[in-house]
Amino acid sequence: MADQSKRWILMTTAQTPTNIAVIKYWGKRDENLILPINDSISVTLDPEHLCTTTTVAVSPSFDRDRMWLNKKEISLSSDRYQRCLREIRSRANDFEDEKKGIKITKKDWENLHVHIDSYNNFPTAAGLASSAAGFACFVFSLARLMNVKEDLGKLSAIARQGSGSACRSLYGGFVKWNMGKNDDGSDSVAVQLADEKHWDDLVIIIAVVSSRQKETSSTTGMRETVETSKLIQHRAKVFLCPLTCLIHLNISPYRINRVTNKDNRRLVSELHLIFLILILARVQSFRIIGCVEKWNSAEGSPQAAYTFDAGPNAVLIARNRKVAALLLQRLLFHFPPHPDTDLDSYVIGDKSILKDAGVKDINDVEALPPPPEIKGNIPAQKYTGDVSYFICTRPGRGPVLLGDESLALLSPETGLPK
Ligand code: DP6
Repeated sequence: MADQSKRWILMTTAQTPTNIAVIKYWGKRDENLILPINDSISVTLDPEHLCTTTTVAVSPSFDRDRMWLNKKEISLSSDRYQRCLREIRSRANDFEDEKKGIKITKKDWENLHVHIDSYNNFPTAAGLASSAAGFACFVFSLARLMNVKEDLGKLSAIARQGSGSACRSLYGGFVKWNMGKNDDGSDSVAVQLADEKHWDDLVIIIAVVSSRQKETSSTTGMRETVETSKLIQHRAKVFLCPLTCLIHLNISPYRINRVTNKDNRRLVSELHLIFLILILARVQSFRIIGCVEKWNSAEGSPQAAYTFDAGPNAVLIARNRKVAALLLQRLLFHFPPHPDTDLDSYVIGDKSILKDAGVKDINDVEALPPPPEIKGNIPAQKYTGDVSYFICTRPGRGPVLLGDESLALLSPETGLPK
């Protein structure tokens, strides 16, 4: 039995990446267990640029479960949090730290309360899959704290019950979420198709066109699509197989671009109709699509791919750094920052792409020539202010524990946010 008289606090801190789907999860066949109507595939993004950090703590001195997100206390009462907590608690194991005099038995975990403090290094709920990184980190950190022995696949099935896309954030690299067939969801788990080194020169540029919170959740949007759209059932059947084969066989990314673009063009319009996103944001998104499409068609073959999650931000994919540099030149030409903006805060993440693009300051941006696809008599269009900032990133690793106690978000003395 854990010694309730002692004021010890046991803590664990973890970092979990976010992911961007190239074949989207959109629609559930079971809303409670979060079981999808199709398989989906995503790329895990480098946590250096986009991740959730979560510290979880347990102590006999805590009187209830509490959680803070981005420094604000939030309620843990939703079914999604409760389900994940219950699933993890039921798998907890004995734990002992002789040095600190902490001994917790399997049974103790049922009565011990936890404090959870979570922080995203990117805008929450702006369509950058913050719930994916968030629930993956919630489950991963609690599982490590409670000495849960389950493998990542089993943990992915728990994270899935927090938010569907979270299950894919349990792995780095290229990840598939198998929709599964079982009613209890036991086979609806994520698997790693290839690790982040498999395609290590892939570059992903996110154009953050609005940091506003989206106005309709993915959950509501999906429900409405499943209830009203016949297309969604068709999509669930036809789009997945080609991409899975291509990744497995390492077939030319040109063709992946073609598949995802075909899929995404339709999904983008459907999603944007469904989400009723601010007219302005929608226009910005389509202008970015226009820039990529114009380049792709001028070259006669896809150079870059684009995709969107449930929000207006465009996620642009270049097959290597050379193509990424050309893409960034185009993006900066068409979507330049305000003249008083510091380039350092306009292009964040892997800034080395800027160097490859030959751009080191705002003067270089202003001096960028119109891309060759802009034909002589058509004036080159510039949309200053359409984009808030760009994040350059790449495929990244899966969840990790942060051993350095100074990185914990909770105070080791009080168990409250620092
Ligand atoms: C468009 O995982 O946020 O990003 O399961 O209801 O929490 P819930 O939805 P969520 O939806 C993500 C939808 C998407 C596509 C994807 O990531 O596959």
